[in-house]
Amino acid sequence: MSLKGPRGTQDILPGEVEKWQFVESVLSDVCRRYNYKEVRTPIFEHTELFQRGVGDTTDIVQKEMYTFEDRGGRSLTLRPEGTASVVRSFVQNKVYGLPNQPTKYYYFGPMFRYERPQQGRMRQFVQFGIEALGSDDPAIDAEVIALAMNSYQELGLQSLKLVLNSLGDQESREEHRKALISHFDPYREELCEDCQVRLDQNPMRVLDCKKDKDHPAMSTAPSILEYLNDYSRTYFENVKSYLDKMGIPYTIDPNLVRGLDYYNHTAFEIMSESEGFGAITTLSGGGRYNGLVEEIGGPETSGIGFAMSIERLLMALEAEGVTLPLEEKLDCYIVALGEEAEKEAAGVVYQLRKAGIQVDKDYAGKKVKAQFKSADRLQAKYVLVLGENELANGQINVKRMATGDQETIALADVVEYMKKEFKGEQS
Ligand code: HAM
Repeated sequence: MSLKGPRGTQDILPGEVEKWQFVESVLSDVCRRYNYKEVRTPIFEHTELFQRGVGDTTDIVQKEMYTFEDRGGRSLTLRPEGTASVVRSFVQNKVYGLPNQPTKYYYFGPMFRYERPQQGRMRQFVQFGIEALGSDDPAIDAEVIALAMNSYQELGLQSLKLVLNSLGDQESREEHRKALISHFDPYREELCEDCQVRLDQNPMRVLDCKKDKDHPAMSTAPSILEYLNDYSRTYFENVKSYLDKMGIPYTIDPNLVRGLDYYNHTAFEIMSESEGFGAITTLSGGGRYNGLVEEIGGPETSGIGFAMSIERLLMALEAEGVTLPLEEKLDCYIVALGEEAEKEAAGVVYQLRKAGIQVDKDYAGKKVKAQFKSADRLQAKYVLVLGENELANGQINVKRMATGDQETIALADVVEYMKKEFKGEQS
């Protein structure tokens, strides 16, 4: 029996991987412009980090983590998300003590969740995310949202919907919590088993339940927005006015609660509205998490960020029919005729590559005709031919495939010649 990769994982092969490289380079460039710096943290952490960070009552911690014991008996977990790790790193490395706060980070990397795989939902997926730590200025909430929207737009997506909510501060949430309990308690028996537990532990989670979403009590549930205290309401108003200034449209959804426990104040998701995107329409999500840095053992520091998976981003690009400007052509292919020429060709290939030119040759002992076919298949822009005659005269034939022009030049000049050709092509 042949072995297959685990369910919910995928191989990204050449042909597809170029799309990943392209979107990663665009996203990194957007981060450069917004002055976010890259951070890289480990793929596994102590399990406790996620229990404390993401929250004990979340589905992620209760049902979806890849947790294992190492040989030293420590409980470790493959990270299900990036925020807790970034905050841990921020605290451990005392980054809060450096000048130039807030700290603005971005990251890419695989995340792991034991979810039921379906289109857009993987067990290993790659997140791109950003975190801004050390500012509770509503302008930075708008900056984070702007970066997210900007990233999608830059890649060519148009059918986007930004959904916004405020979860308020602790005081507001406490009042809302009480209201939710008295609202749902009469229906306790009618709610799913999970929600009965949620009602005691974290009643806001009930609003996010997929099983009970059509229960009549859902649509009449008290909205968090009615329970925001003055500080939280003003904060939210300010975030919205910054978005208005930037011309970023949004829809308010008081039932947007997000699946992680650390959020307060601003919470948002960006959805794809393109037809054919699939059942899961959320492209990315994020929000403010004042209090998380303290929870992880650092000083009082506010934070906000968001994350998207590259898998869903690529799905959205495909659904909207966006073609990425990928270079599929090979710069140069060298065809060699005979053993001597083949040896000489290996040297020319080496020199050209050192000079920055992309070049390939045959390694399968193919006949000349088949070598030309390879050059054709690889869409070589130039084909260099080194036959017996050329070799005897210390020459090489250069054919520019786009025009069909060809020239025989001195072998000793080939690197300079090709360098000039490519310079001309770029200018
Ligand atoms: P999240 O909503 O759990 O938030 O995930 C963010 C994004 O990761 C989702 O919107 C989606 O694009 C992607 N994603 C999540 N699960 C999967 C999956 N199983 N397969 C494919 N893609 C998936 C967080 O993770 C927070 N750490 C975001 C954040 C950063 N909040 C503040 N800072």
